[in-house]
Amino acid sequence: MRLFVASVVFVLLALNFPGIVSKLENTLNKCGDFILNKMSPVIPGILENSVTLKDCYKIICQKYKNKIRFVTLYDTENKIPVFSAYKYTGITKFRRPQIPWMIESQLEPSGAEMRVPFVTQARNGDYLINNTYNYIPGALFPMNHTADRETAESTLTLTNSVPVKQGFRDRLWNLVEETTKRYMDSNCTDHNKKNIVAYVLTGAIPGNEKLNNRVNVPSYMWTAFCCKNKTQGSWVSKTYWGKNMHYKNVNNITLQSLQELQNFLKENFSKNIKLFNNCG
Ligand SMILES: *[C@@H]1O[C@H](CO)[C@@H](O)[C@H](O)[C@H]1NC(C)=O
Ligand SMILES: *[C@@H]1O[C@H](CO)[C@@H](O)[C@H](O)[C@H]1NC(C)=O
Ligand SMILES: *[C@@H]1O[C@H](CO)[C@@H](O)[C@H](O)[C@H]1NC(C)=O
Ligand SMILES: *[C@@H]1O[C@H](CO)[C@@H](O)[C@H](O)[C@H]1NC(C)=O
Ligand SMILES: *[C@@H]1O[C@H](CO)[C@@H](O)[C@H](O)[C@H]1NC(C)=O
Ligand SMILES: *[C@@H]1O[C@H](CO)[C@@H](O)[C@H](O)[C@H]1NC(C)=O
Repeated sequence: MRLFVASVVFVLLALNFPGIVSKLENTLNKCGDFILNKMSPVIPGILENSVTLKDCYKIICQKYKNKIRFVTLYDTENKIPVFSAYKYTGITKFRRPQIPWMIESQLEPSGAEMRVPFVTQARNGDYLINNTYNYIPGALFPMNHTADRETAESTLTLTNSVPVKQGFRDRLWNLVEETTKRYMDSNCTDHNKKNIVAYVLTGAIPGNEKLNNRVNVPSYMWTAFCCKNKTQGSWVSKTYWGKNMHYKNVNNITLQSLQELQNFLKENFSKNIKLFNNCG
């Protein structure tokens, strides 16, 4: 309840101060340096040459406290993201934020007339009303991969989240986040071999169920990162994907190659997907 009330307050604030809101863009690169070599992923039918191919897909520069923190390709029909793209730069210690879920005011049309809000995006209520199967929001850009507290807060938007089973998020995907983090921390670097840097894409494959008859419940989540090898300077990438189901326990996962993930995605999108340009 508290969450829902809070989000309504946020809408009112956002409509009153349009200057603070995020921006919808027509190309991914306008959001900033979140895409490797500025060559966006190619997902036939959805995204090519950095632009969306259908009106229901929106590019959201995820702006929070005056800075664009990451970018999301959002599917307004399924009301879940296709993916979020971010740059992993290692983490520092900060207190985990406790703030309510935020909505994306850019997806709410502006104008003077009356309208129903949340027509094009998920809202807290979708996760609370008649949630027979206990889905919870799973973030694509996870708080555990953010470099500072404000970026951590910026991930708490439902446009960066998909409905997942609790046992998926807390057991499988948590371990995926930890495993990729450890790998990037020890293997990834920037040009000067000084700092940790990796370009990450994390997405979801739409499934056949809907939360509250509105929000698609994805069948899978996937993640991929690309970075420079710390010792050699050549490009390296690793990936993982998992079915959205309740896992009882997961002790160990093995990261996969970029090609393996692309092959898997091809089965589901029935088209060739290219996530990174020239990686590994
Ligand atoms: C709640 O959701 C279930 C499963 O989707 C559906 O069968 C049921 O009719 C819903 N109940 C209400 C009150 O909407
Ligand atoms: C994030 O990291 C903390 C500390 O390592 C861990 O307890 C937590 O389960 C992780 N994941 C999430 C989603 O908070
Ligand atoms: C770093 O990369 C190597 C080679 O792929 C791998 O064997 C190792 O496990 C990675 N380090 C971590 C901490 O994941
Ligand atoms: C980086 O390159 C070195 C030297 O070729 C190799 O031993 C190591 O496995 C590579 N690391 C990764 C993460 O691929
Ligand atoms: C995880 O699995 C790999 C391969 O199956 C194995 O080599 C490794 O020891 C396992 N790690 C843990 C912590 O169980
Ligand atoms: C996606 O791939 C999985 C595994 O190959 C398959 O079970 C599933 O039916 C596919 N889904 C779609 C929508 O193609």
